[in-house]
Amino acid sequence: MSAEQDRRRWNERYRARSERPESHTRLGEYVHLLRGGRALDLGAGLGRNADLLSGWSVVLVDISDVAMRRATGARVVADAEALPFPESSFETIVCTFFKPPLDLGRFLRPGGTLFLETFTMEDGKYRPDFPPIYRMSGSDVSVLFQGMITVHWEERDDGERVKGVFVGRKV
Ligand SMILES: C[S@@+](CC[C@H](N)C(=O)[O-])C[C@H]1O[C@@H](n2cnc3c(N)ncnc32)[C@H](O)[C@@H]1O
Repeated sequence: MSAEQDRRRWNERYRARSERPESHTRLGEYVHLLRGGRALDLGAGLGRNADLLSGWSVVLVDISDVAMRRATGARVVADAEALPFPESSFETIVCTFFKPPLDLGRFLRPGGTLFLETFTMEDGKYRPDFPPIYRMSGSDVSVLFQGMITVHWEERDDGERVKGVFVGRKV
């Protein structure tokens, strides 16, 4: 799917949602493992993750201009594959329920951290209809971020969904 098709699809979804839905991220449990400072929230949607990073300087990036107009704070409408930032721009990158591009680590400063939360393959037992593009296995994650030290990887089944959390550190 092209970036333009993604934008149209997500814009339609955000136009159809009048309320900001409750967040189900586990980011709050892992903030203590992340390096504070300037952070990028990639595929930020309505900006719910930034609420959990109080005191940080968070830049939200999303391909949906509709979502970015509704969010607050520093926001950039951009495709994750063509981010308009120089290398080593951020202390931390947060990415929840969006598959990031392969070379995301280059936007982190040395020692910077990445928080990724994703639905995993096991989640298929609850939601066989859910698009597989939003699912990653532990091995997908280690291939995607092979240049990083794994600080934490965990897969958790809450009885309704199966989600994985990866925290990595750039060497
Ligand atoms: C499942 S939502 C997650 C939103 C938010 N991270 C959260 O947890 O509430 C995925 C988000 O990724 C954005 N997205 C999809 N494709 C994108 C792309 N190519 N570049 C940047 N953002 C994209 C969508 O607009 C959407 O807001």
